[in-house]
Amino acid sequence: MSARAKSDGRTGCGRRQFLKTGLAATGGWALLNSCLLRVPAVAAEGKDVLGVQVDDLPLLGPYLLPTEAPHERIRVAFRGTDDKTRLAGGRLTYGLKSVGEKETAFTAADKHVLELKDLAPDAEYQYRLKLGDYESPVHRFRTSPMPRQRAQRTKLALFFDFHCHAPQSVEAGEKGAGDFFTRFGHAMEDIKKFAPDMLVLGGDIVQKGSRREEYETFFRIMREVCANSILVPCPGNHEWVTDKDLSIYSDYLPAVGNGPASDRAANWYFSFGGVGWQMRRTGMGGEWLRNSIRSLKQQHGADTIVDVQHHQVYQWAAKSTDLGKQGVCDLFDQEGGVRLCLFGHRHIHQRSLPILFQGSGQATTKEKSEYPADTKGTIYMQSPSMWYQYTQALENELVANNGKPKFEGEYTGYGEMTITPEALLTETFVYEYNGKTRHECVDQFRMLRPKA
Ligand SMILES: [Fe+2]
Repeated sequence: MSARAKSDGRTGCGRRQFLKTGLAATGGWALLNSCLLRVPAVAAEGKDVLGVQVDDLPLLGPYLLPTEAPHERIRVAFRGTDDKTRLAGGRLTYGLKSVGEKETAFTAADKHVLELKDLAPDAEYQYRLKLGDYESPVHRFRTSPMPRQRAQRTKLALFFDFHCHAPQSVEAGEKGAGDFFTRFGHAMEDIKKFAPDMLVLGGDIVQKGSRREEYETFFRIMREVCANSILVPCPGNHEWVTDKDLSIYSDYLPAVGNGPASDRAANWYFSFGGVGWQMRRTGMGGEWLRNSIRSLKQQHGADTIVDVQHHQVYQWAAKSTDLGKQGVCDLFDQEGGVRLCLFGHRHIHQRSLPILFQGSGQATTKEKSEYPADTKGTIYMQSPSMWYQYTQALENELVANNGKPKFEGEYTGYGEMTITPEALLTETFVYEYNGKTRHECVDQFRMLRPKA
């Protein structure tokens, strides 16, 4: 791990600067030094569950969802949660310089997914929702540059196996429910400070996919992050085992719609600033995957592709050893351009060297942290869970993690990715179960992009 300044008081990565302003009273965002700075929103009432506030605002959202053309269209989703807001209409106002430039009105409905169209590419928008009597703080989102063009800086948070529980489960004494709140509480301020533009949700977002109260809790405890970042989800087994047709999942997280007709909720793709993202259900490969990779490269102009699914692809762990999947990994090799494959499920952090499938995996380099644009092979990375760790990573000659937690024992965590025109920087942060060790960076690598 390279030595880095610790300017933000967190362990590891000190590249961010957090500016404090005296603008809290305005709520929402303030324009200063050409960047939008986050200032605390008006505090909501609600329940304190083991240090985590589960607010009682009369709505879920607004939260942001992608489209196939995020340089000109973004979706905003929300729904009322009491009689008043469910029966109310309202309007969404938005704009570049001020929140009042444009307006979309809507009538009462059980849920809303508004598609904002004709947006300017590569721009930061402000928006505000009025739903009945409720008025949200001013939030923001970024649009993608035009296809084939790169964004100056895009920040993504990577969450796998979040396993959101509901306060009811804590009250009922359900095993692990209290731990979820305690451990999420260790990380929540860091997640807010990172202020991602996009939030990758790699499955097992909730503990039990049939429980709407867990999705609801997710949107309440992650309200600020979800209002200011585009959600990029795929489901995991904890969604689809008890929500077999993914109707509840899709109710909250409707997909972009370019997946196969047989499984559109779980498979889709889009590109943002020249980086293609393909979200898949475990095992989805073959022609759909081939077409997705080709479309991302040719139609969407992606120079780099990140593949995301819930279950492990390459993994060396106490509970299982999975050495690649035919129809997926060999396709990556054939098509090229899929530089990174992300997954979770086993609740550990592990990351491979760039490897070609060839049956059991062949490293193309021994370099552990810096990968030139012409590096062959795909890096396979498994992210830790925000809930608990239940398996131990094993050593293997193809494992490239360039750090380990300083502490003994178990951890939770998540990833942060920063994309610039030159590179994708991916970092994994972990937290000791008891919260004594905060935000420790245990892995960090940079993949350079091809020259534009
Ligand atoms: Fe899982």
